[in-house]
Amino acid sequence: MIAIEVLDEAAEEQLSDILIETVAGGGSVSFMHPLSRPDAEAFWSGSLAAAARGGRVVLGAWDGAALAGTVTVLLDCPPNQPHRGEIAKLMVRPSHRGRGIAAALMRRAEAEAAARGRTLLVLDTASEDGAAGLYEGLGYQFVGEIPDYALKPHGGLTGTRIYFRRIGAAG
Ligand SMILES: CC(C)(COP(=O)(O)OP(=O)(O)OC[C@H]1O[C@@H](n2cnc3c(N)ncnc32)[C@H](O)[C@@H]1OP(=O)(O)O)[C@@H](O)C(=O)NCCC(=O)NCCS
Repeated sequence: MIAIEVLDEAAEEQLSDILIETVAGGGSVSFMHPLSRPDAEAFWSGSLAAAARGGRVVLGAWDGAALAGTVTVLLDCPPNQPHRGEIAKLMVRPSHRGRGIAAALMRRAEAEAAARGRTLLVLDTASEDGAAGLYEGLGYQFVGEIPDYALKPHGGLTGTRIYFRRIGAAG
């Protein structure tokens, strides 16, 4: 039984485990392999501090005491975009993939964003080894692709695909 909850600093160690493991596995989540534990912990420490200030929501999918996956909703948008949020760092542990956990995390992320008055979500995903099919299955609309946008964790450039979805009252 998977339980999705809003995370705080108590989850920092397990979030770091997932980030390191995801990067090592080739997941495009802004970091290069090998990602050191201090760098992973520094990222999550900053992210969870931003969450405590209300600038984002970090969600976790718990399988008992084990963190199986996570997603972040970025809320700290410019003053002229108070209705917008951004999806980031969607990751599910390899041992827990293919069970609908990412889809459940995304639906909860949308609910958390809508509860904060957001009506538009945007995201991007790597053209190679990304999760385009997952987002399209969840109703996200493809906007376009930027070639050679970022390095893959093990090197070599990949493009990025941009998506959006209207949610809440605008959904
Ligand atoms: C992408 C990822 C989060 C998917 O997690 P998951 O829990 O296995 O996904 P789910 O089981 O919820 O899949 C939901 C649906 O999306 C599909 N899907 C999952 N991953 C997909 C992918 N990479 N590409 C295309 N479709 C995918 C599934 O087949 C499923 O479809 P269905 O509803 O028709 O059966 C996971 O593979 C992962 O952590 N990858 C590495 C990090 C990464 O790439 N994150 C995305 C950054 S933008």
